[in-house]
Amino acid sequence: MVSSGAMWVSWPQVSLLVWVLVLFKVGGAFNASQELDTLILFRKYIFMGIYWEEDDQAGRMTGKIEFEQNCLWESWNEIDKSPCAWFGISCTSDGSVRAIDLPGCNLQFSDSTFEDGSRGLRGLENLQQFRLTGSYIGGINFTESLCTLVSLQELDLSDGSLVEDLPDCLNQLGNLRHLHLDGNFFRGSIPRLDNLTKLQVFSISRNKLSGPIGSHLNDLVSLVDLDLSSNHFSGSIPLLTNLVNLKNLNINNNNLIGFEDPAFPGPQNLTRLLASGNQLQGTLPVGIVQMLQLEVINMSFNQFTGEIPEGIIRQVERSFWLDLSNNQLGGSCRGTHSYQ
Ligand SMILES: *[C@@H]1O[C@H](CO)[C@@H](O)[C@H](O)[C@H]1NC(C)=O
Ligand SMILES: *[C@@H]1O[C@H](CO)[C@@H](O)[C@H](O)[C@H]1NC(C)=O
Ligand SMILES: *[C@@H]1O[C@H](CO)[C@@H](O)[C@H](O)[C@H]1NC(C)=O
Ligand SMILES: *[C@@H]1O[C@H](CO)[C@@H](O)[C@H](O)[C@H]1NC(C)=O
Ligand SMILES: *[C@@H]1O[C@H](CO)[C@@H](O)[C@H](O)[C@H]1NC(C)=O
Repeated sequence: MVSSGAMWVSWPQVSLLVWVLVLFKVGGAFNASQELDTLILFRKYIFMGIYWEEDDQAGRMTGKIEFEQNCLWESWNEIDKSPCAWFGISCTSDGSVRAIDLPGCNLQFSDSTFEDGSRGLRGLENLQQFRLTGSYIGGINFTESLCTLVSLQELDLSDGSLVEDLPDCLNQLGNLRHLHLDGNFFRGSIPRLDNLTKLQVFSISRNKLSGPIGSHLNDLVSLVDLDLSSNHFSGSIPLLTNLVNLKNLNINNNNLIGFEDPAFPGPQNLTRLLASGNQLQGTLPVGIVQMLQLEVINMSFNQFTGEIPEGIIRQVERSFWLDLSNNQLGGSCRGTHSYQ
């Protein structure tokens, strides 16, 4: 009699085991009925935002819908229990909502929509992409309601009308890659976002943010594009030497007065440095001479004094733009230079 200590598992058992592991690994469990409830509520919020006006003919009040006609709202039909077929919604293979993509749909949310933070957007924990570009979102604390969307990789609320402080809880969205909040009325300072280590694009231009930029941005080590232009940031530009992937830094049109380290050593791979329209003082930071990837430097409309450092203009194979006009600089090269 031959006996073996090994335990044999048949192939069907192995594949079942793998399947079960996959189910638990990807996205986590989701509650389809809770997801649907939240979407139906979301749809109700949108329709509550319709504003009413008097009908000339009958003297009755009629709802005026300003939605972009190309956005097919009829498909958002709660009788259809599968939101995966609704306009702007995409799902994962197991039927969980992965994306809500409604850019340019001109959604109008009512003012009271998100006051009840208890519900918010709960149930959409598997959502990875949320794009509401160009919507009027009047509800207070809307941004806070987004903090439950822990799987989010892309959030785009640009050109909306959000008037709020950025909530601290944004730091929970550690999976974010793209965060576009441009063209709103965000105010206050940038909260700590040091947990967003996967963030590649952060743009929050054309808002009302103020105070110092905050050295914690130096922890966003995956950043490639950082656009803080056209706000009211003041104080110094922090050290950003950890941002080795950063290619584009735009801090145009703020109230910045200088560099935390006057030499400004880095970020080393920066190709575009736009710092025009601030109150930057003192001599030009010598660090930019060592930033060998720079192709565009625009530090026009500031208060730099002294000489333009030797070596800032160098032979590069790419084209090279340098705009230092409207400062109080001396030396042999002033104004705008372009080298092809
Ligand atoms: C799913 O969510 C609904 C509320 O939308 C709730 O009534 C139900 O108990 C939940 N089911 C599970 C399994 O959590
Ligand atoms: C909005 O958020 C702020 C800060 O978290 C909180 O103090 C306030 O109560 C919230 N307002 C509402 C209506 O939830
Ligand atoms: C940081 O992000 C992860 C997701 O990547 C999240 O699980 C965690 O709670 C976040 N930590 C904090 C302190 O918010
Ligand atoms: C950035 O620069 C470092 C050297 O400072 C280099 O090792 C790295 O490969 C560069 N990364 C990119 C994305 O260019
Ligand atoms: C530099 O910035 C200013 C103000 O934003 C702009 O007018 C100018 O055209 C820019 N210079 C270059 C060379 O792009």
